[in-house]
Amino acid sequence: MFRNTKSGYGWISIGFHWVMALLMVGTLGLGIYMHDLPPSAPETFELYQLHKSFGFVILGLALLRLVWRSINPSPRLPDGMKNWERTLAHLGHAGLYAALFALPLTGWIMVSASPWGIPTVVFNTIHVPHFPVSDWTGNRDTVETLFQSLHEYMAWFTVLLLIGHVAAALKHHFILRDTTLRRMISTGPARSSK
Ligand code: HEM
Ligand code: HEM
Repeated sequence: MFRNTKSGYGWISIGFHWVMALLMVGTLGLGIYMHDLPPSAPETFELYQLHKSFGFVILGLALLRLVWRSINPSPRLPDGMKNWERTLAHLGHAGLYAALFALPLTGWIMVSASPWGIPTVVFNTIHVPHFPVSDWTGNRDTVETLFQSLHEYMAWFTVLLLIGHVAAALKHHFILRDTTLRRMISTGPARSSK
């Protein structure tokens, strides 16, 4: 039961969802935590490298996840949802997908623009090149500040989206009592009808 059906998610989509949910929450938490650390401490450097490494894993998985989504059916939203609720659900999911790309990309551009030129080495193994930012504008500082702000505002917007996302999932499960949450945990609903 690897593929989605119109009534539920297969194991691959469920796996992508929960592995990436864990990585996203962890990377957001790490970002917020490292913000207040003294910049010159050695452990700050290590935590920044870890944050950047998880960010690149998320970017890679996001690409694979989008390919998998495009070659699978998308499960129907539950019957009885009003039009505005459907629109909100689609916008929320699209926003979360956008965050999976926009956060790593803005982070990547930010560190590429930094005059410090600190290298990014994913899990101390893969050296990630910098974008040639100074070639675009000739002014690294402005680009760094701009993308730092974008990265930060987008991170907080994602936190808000996630609060809404989890609240919606809990409402479906405990109040509306439909299969929305169950079908992201098991493939039972996907098997119940093709
Ligand atoms: C931590 C608690 C979370 C819960 C309880 C939860 C629950 C769910 C549920 C039940 C669905 C299925 C909605 C449906 O069937 O229409 C879903 C979909 C989705 N979730 Fe989460 N989620 C959580 C965290 C996250 C996180 C951290 C992200 C990261 C960005 C995320 C991104 C998504 C996306 C993009 C979809 C749409 C999947 C698709 O249809 O392709 N979720 N989530
Ligand atoms: C999905 C992936 C990512 C998430 C969720 C994320 C989230 C965050 C958050 C919440 C912060 C703290 C914002 C603040 O309050 O200042 C932060 C800071 C930071 N992030 Fe990310 N990030 C991600 C990916 C990346 C990547 C790929 C890079 C670099 C290649 C990166 C580089 C940085 C840097 C350098 C800071 C510190 C900025 C400062 O000095 O204020 N991030 N990130």
